[in-house]
Amino acid sequence: MRKKIVAGNWKMNNDLAETEMFLVELKKQVFPENVTIMIAPPFTSLNHAFNSLREHPVTVASQNMHQSNEGAFTGEISAKMLKSIGANTVILGHSERRAYFMEDNATLAEKVNTALENEMTIIFCIGEELEDRRNNTHFEIIKTQLSEGLFHTSNKAWESVIIAYEPVWAIGTGETASPEQAQEMHHFIRKTIAENYSEEIADGVSILYGGSVKPDNATEIFKQPDVDGGLIGGASLKVASFMEIVNAFY
Ligand code: G3H
Repeated sequence: MRKKIVAGNWKMNNDLAETEMFLVELKKQVFPENVTIMIAPPFTSLNHAFNSLREHPVTVASQNMHQSNEGAFTGEISAKMLKSIGANTVILGHSERRAYFMEDNATLAEKVNTALENEMTIIFCIGEELEDRRNNTHFEIIKTQLSEGLFHTSNKAWESVIIAYEPVWAIGTGETASPEQAQEMHHFIRKTIAENYSEEIADGVSILYGGSVKPDNATEIFKQPDVDGGLIGGASLKVASFMEIVNAFY
């Protein structure tokens, strides 16, 4: 049975006071037992969120980390630093990191290695641009992102990997992939993992969908057999909409 996961990626939103307001509200909620809930606040709120949620079944994840363990990398954060505040999960390869911070597949492969060496769980993001879908190269793009960023890892690594498929054209645009489009790509991703590793590994990997998931479309998307949850941006910033999505599994 694969894990169902709903992860909120706050991106560059919520200062410390806003984080605290969110957490106060979040801690009043009843959490379903069959869903793993994660939030990824900005670095400045990570420590506070982790301490505040110690007694609650919510994983606090980082939105990024550097590929080196330490050194002269002004403005960067290492795996060791994250682990020292209890953040054992990291999002890698988000399309905004790829597009605005020049993170290519080779850099991401290094980040994956560093995260695994530090025994962290990885939410590895992949997704095609609108142009790719129009040109019908979307499957090829996804395959390349997987093979260059992730497929150098061992079988064992997959115990610590979650995939997030986020078509770039659906992120923050209000345009969601249809449930059928999401299922088609998630199935392709699982098949590609099976071809490169094994059916057993592919069957065990949680694959999340991300891109304009909202309370009113989450159930239809989560119903798809190869969709195991969501990576949520905008709708994760308010506890009410986030929890509606958490509870959207039928
Ligand atoms: O990481 C989350 C995704 O980029 C989706 O963002 O739900 O605001 O479209 P969104």
